[in-house]
Amino acid sequence: MEKKKIITIFGTRPEAIKMAPLVKELEKREGIVSKVCVTAQHREMLDQVLEYFDINPDFDLNIMKNKQSLTGITNRVLEGLEEIFSKEKPDMVLVHGDTTTTFSGALAAFYQQIKVGHVEAGLRTHNKYFPFPEEMNRKLTASLADLHFAPTKNSKKNLIKEGVNEKDIYITGNTVIDAMHHTVKEDFKFSIDLLNNIDYINKKVILITAHRRENWGEGINNICEALNRIVKENEDVELIYLVHLNPIVRDVVYEKLGNNERIHLLNPLDTNETHNLMNKCFMVMTDSGGLQEEAPHLGKPVLVLRDVTERPEAVEYGTVKLVGTDVEKIVYEANKLIKNEDEYLKMSRATNPYGDGYASKRIADIIENYFNIRKLEIKEFLK
Ligand code: UD1
Repeated sequence: MEKKKIITIFGTRPEAIKMAPLVKELEKREGIVSKVCVTAQHREMLDQVLEYFDINPDFDLNIMKNKQSLTGITNRVLEGLEEIFSKEKPDMVLVHGDTTTTFSGALAAFYQQIKVGHVEAGLRTHNKYFPFPEEMNRKLTASLADLHFAPTKNSKKNLIKEGVNEKDIYITGNTVIDAMHHTVKEDFKFSIDLLNNIDYINKKVILITAHRRENWGEGINNICEALNRIVKENEDVELIYLVHLNPIVRDVVYEKLGNNERIHLLNPLDTNETHNLMNKCFMVMTDSGGLQEEAPHLGKPVLVLRDVTERPEAVEYGTVKLVGTDVEKIVYEANKLIKNEDEYLKMSRATNPYGDGYASKRIADIIENYFNIRKLEIKEFLK
């Protein structure tokens, strides 16, 4: 039987982390020719992940520009992929989640009537502008996709409500948990001395990330003010803020938090370093989506610096709490966990609502079934 050609497309760091285990799985399948195309919507942050997982892309659109606009990203991805798809003629294109690379990748495939598989499908806040532009990116991608790999039951329900045919949706778990099985190690040594020397036992080390578009301006300002107060009010707290390379975020964070010896501002770390830092820290405060999935897997409480989330599973389970970007509310909720052990223990139960480490294998099996390469039994992730 003729092999099927699958091109996996991604462009930002989190997509790369979550697609890497799937790329590795597809490479093992005899009936599949697996190719990787990176848009490089992110450059350095993407390259770190490619190197860690030892992935050499077959195609690299190299589109990133300083302070890039959404229109610019969309145009450059559409044009770049048009050329690659017309030459390569893949049987299916795989995209991930909700970035502008994701939507443009799905649209470029649709324009050439190539099948689209959407990994991490069905996450919704049901609010068009939160997160912006991700909520719309994922909805539009769903309209273009032929196969929907929903991480949880809840994400499948969202897709059905929007009229997606149930037979095209599979609950797979999230591939990020597959990635964490490779990265997290109890005896991990960091590449930065500071991280090896911090006293994770006697200090309460809080890991921070915050960079989302809808938090630019007032949101980031408030977050910085709250972080300064938390450090001032708690002698045993140290903060490690991994500051995104986007200058719009970076300039504010360095100005407001740059002068405190208990606040450590670091560049984004490699994936394995971030996962292991999370494993050692006391808790996480973030506006990122990925960390909301990763930290519960490690039993770390998460305060989410957003008003809505597309990942309600861990909120329902009680390990993640939405606190928004109001200064008083952030300080109040953080202090509760720092000062009250019972509150902390309630939120620090390790749980796996997002996956069991087999998502990539399931997705590859489903693709093989779809193209009649082999008939495989699919056991969905039903947590
Ligand atoms: C993008 C995605 C967002 C995802 C996030 C993960 C869109 C619209 N946004 O947001 O969904 O959650 O990635 O991080 O798709 N930069 C560098 N080097 C890098 C990466 C970024 O210098 O390696 C700087 C550039 O100045 C770039 C800016 O960061 O213009 C913003 O990058 P962009 O991909 O547009 O937005 P993100 O906020 O990273």
